[in-house]
Parts: sequence; C-alpha cells; structure tokens
Amino acid sequence: MLRKLVALSAAAVLATALSSCGAANNSGGSTSASGGGSDKITLGFSQVGSESGWREANTKSIKESAPAAGIDLKFSDAQQKQENQIAAIRSYIQQKVDVIAFSPVVVTGWDAVLKEAQAAKIPVVLTDRAVDSDPSLYVSFIGSDFVKEGQEVGQWVLDNYKDASAPVNIVELEGTVGAAPAIDRKKGFDDLVKTNPNLKIIASQSGDFTRAKGKEVMQAILKANPKIDLLFAHNDDMGIGAMQAIEEAGKKPGTDIKIVTIDAVHDGMQALADGKFNFIAECSPLLGPQLMDIVKQIKSGQTPEKRIITKETTFTQQQAAEALPNRKY
Ligand code: AHR
Repeated sequence: MLRKLVALSAAAVLATALSSCGAANNSGGSTSASGGGSDKITLGFSQVGSESGWREANTKSIKESAPAAGIDLKFSDAQQKQENQIAAIRSYIQQKVDVIAFSPVVVTGWDAVLKEAQAAKIPVVLTDRAVDSDPSLYVSFIGSDFVKEGQEVGQWVLDNYKDASAPVNIVELEGTVGAAPAIDRKKGFDDLVKTNPNLKIIASQSGDFTRAKGKEVMQAILKANPKIDLLFAHNDDMGIGAMQAIEEAGKKPGTDIKIVTIDAVHDGMQALADGKFNFIAECSPLLGPQLMDIVKQIKSGQTPEKRIITKETTFTQQQAAEALPNRKY
C-alpha cells in the first residue's frame, strides 16, 4: 500500500513538472509582439548611413525601440549609397522578414525594389525621407515636413532683415544631392527669401549633410566671396563644419556671419546657446517608437495612417540655452 502511495505521488510530481515546463515554453514563445502565435515580428531596416549627429540619434532610437516593443530588428547601414540600400532590401525580401522599413538616401530609383517587396507580400514603411514612387508601393511614411522646416528658417531671415537697405549676401549649404530634405528645405527657404529683393543667395552648394564637407565647401566659398552676411546650412553638422571654417578665416560666427540651420541636435544647440548659431528649426530623429507602433499595427491587420508628420519646434539662442540641459540627443 505504502509503495503504491509513493508511486502515485511521484507520478503526480512528474506531471506537474511537465505541465509547468510546457507553460514556460509557451510563455517564452509568446514574446511575439503581435500577440498571436509564437513568432516574434521581424523588421528589416535599411539606414541611410551615419553622416550626422541626427542620423546617430535616429539609429539609436530605432535600435532601442525594437527590443522594447518585442520586435526582432535586422539593421543595415548603407553608407549613403543607394545601391547598398537596394541590396539590403533585397536581402530582407529573401529572408522573408515581416516588414521592411528604410530611410531612402535619395528620392528617385526605388520602383523596381518596391515592386519586388510588394510581389513578396512584404509591407514597406518609409521613415524620415520620401520617394517619388507610386504611394501604393508602401504602406506608410513617417517623418518631418522638410518644406516647412526650410520655410521656418526662411521666415526668421525675412523677419530679421526686413529693414535691410543694403543687399544681404546669403550662402546656402545644401544636403545630399537628390535627397528629400535637401530638395524640400531648399524650396521652402528659397521661395520665401526670394520675396525680399535685398536678400541675395550668392552661393548654394552641397555639403552632403556632413561636418567635414560642410567645412571644406565653406572654406572655398569664403575665399571666393569677401562679403557674406548669413549662412543657411541644411543641417547642424554642415553648420558646425562651416562655423569652424569661418573662425579659421578670422571671422566671428553668429556675429560677422549669422548661421541658421536645421536639426537641433546637441552640438547645434550648444553652438546656438553659445551665440555662434542664430536660429535652428528642429527635425526630430526620435522616430523609433512610432515606427514600432506602425509595424505592430500592420501585423495585427490594421491600416496605419499613410502619412505621419513628426511634431517639431524652432529654437532661438535663449530657447536653446533653456532646452539644452534636458535635451535627449
Ligand atoms: O533626413 C534627415 C536629415 O538627414 C537630417 O536633417 C540630417 O542631419 C541627416 O543627415
């Protein structure tokens, strides 16, 4: 009898252990962000590169948000080359990821690869930058209104030079040739500034959104143009490179040559608070959490909004000094 009782309780212990083991396995598998089935959502992301402080903050935001949302992220850096981005997207298609997202280095040339993704039934989300392809080839586009950013800077210039009686010589450092922010910021700024005939854009060249190129291009422009009143750089990094060139040429940035830029990353905000920049229109890189929400919406059968515009602000020198201590990037 005793032997029978021992055998029965041993069987009960074993059964309990097995069932809790099964429960552990299930809960381990149910880390799926979609909440259904045991698979995690896989997101393939092709980043433009690491050309600027903005881009670094954007990459960090995406890399941190994915695990926080329970999403398995495959990430690649295209080093500012479209062919690398196309190759990365093709590889994500081959790997049968659930969703592909990318920040397109330039606007044109995406039709073929987007059609391949559509044929493979893999939804595509654009982040940060636009393409000129048919909108039916992607599900959603999250990012800034770059024309508006250019207009905000242009409006500051109009307001600050409204009483100018002599010509105001303006230099423009453009972003990467063919990239949406370079095209749109130029349009927003130039169209406004042209409404005052005293405001003259005397040079406009690409600095490829990098600090090094911004400095190099500004050095050449400074040599060719003895009188420059204002620089508009399409991002903070080019503005900082140009600021160094201005200092090395013996001039005072922010005073002898005013500097207005876009982004509001830490180094730009510091230059603004220090009086070396004069105005910044913000472009937020913190797109990660919203992107993960969109990916989850898609996987749960919802239709995300086609165009989601990032909320942004502008900064004067005093506002930069106040905002800097709590700035996340
Ligand atoms: O596409 C966003 C732009 O790309 C940022 O303004 C710039 O800093 C970056 O390189």
